[in-house]
Amino acid sequence: LSSGNIRRGAFILFEGVDRCGKSTQCKLLVQSLQSRGIEAELWRYPDRTTAIGQMIDKYLQSKEDMNDAAIHLLFSANRWEKRDLMLDKINSGVTLVIDRYGHSGTAFTAAKNVPNLDLAWCKSTDAGLPAPDALIYLQMPVEETLKRAGFGGERYEKTEFQKEVLKNYEKLSNDSWNYLDASKSIEDLQEEALKIALDAIEECKKGKAMGKLWD
Ligand code: ADP
Ligand code: TYD
Ligand code: MG
Repeated sequence: LSSGNIRRGAFILFEGVDRCGKSTQCKLLVQSLQSRGIEAELWRYPDRTTAIGQMIDKYLQSKEDMNDAAIHLLFSANRWEKRDLMLDKINSGVTLVIDRYGHSGTAFTAAKNVPNLDLAWCKSTDAGLPAPDALIYLQMPVEETLKRAGFGGERYEKTEFQKEVLKNYEKLSNDSWNYLDASKSIEDLQEEALKIALDAIEECKKGKAMGKLWD
């Protein structure tokens, strides 16, 4: 942060295939941060509340079809439309815990195996967005996620597709990601996630600069 004595908050991201436990961990993390007096908010993508988000929602529920490039651009635009508010929040000291982001965007679109919509193209539309200070990847084979409740009837909730998504996450991953074994108990995972988040918040307090996707 350039001026003032407000220390910026951190951007903590949860990623992983459907039903690995992202939403569960995000909610609990925000609660434990808040209970420690740390200002924190839960965000998610897609943010279905905006006009763009409502188009995405209709697509996911198969109420509308759309060209694969066009829906990818809408998912990406849904992040860009929230970009200024994200930075305002973070720079005013709020820690954002976010459920999915551009990593989902690229892993899912590229899983369609449509000509031209490869990983590089999928990433390009998000390049320059704020990058997470900590990415927590909940690692779990697709077969294991099938044993969990909550697999709905939305467009991408199909086993073979999820396997392609998982392969793409592996292609996107790098050493900076924090891999957690998503088969552990909710409580054990929360303990590990909290530690990662507190470390990231500390680094941001000390003046760590905000990064950009996909630098
Ligand atoms: P996601 O947001 O990644 O799709 P959810 O947090 O909605 O996943 O979790 C999917 C399902 O698995 C829910 O029914 C949830 O209660 C359950 N669940 C989440 N974490 C765990 C865990 N660590 N162990 C067992 N079940 C879990
Ligand atoms: P989400 O609302 O997180 O659903 P759930 O809690 O059931 O996992 O995400 C909806 C779907 O949208 C999910 O299958 C992942 C997909 N998705 C994309 O295809 N592109 C994106 O950019 C994002 C953020 C999500
Ligand atoms: Mg979820």
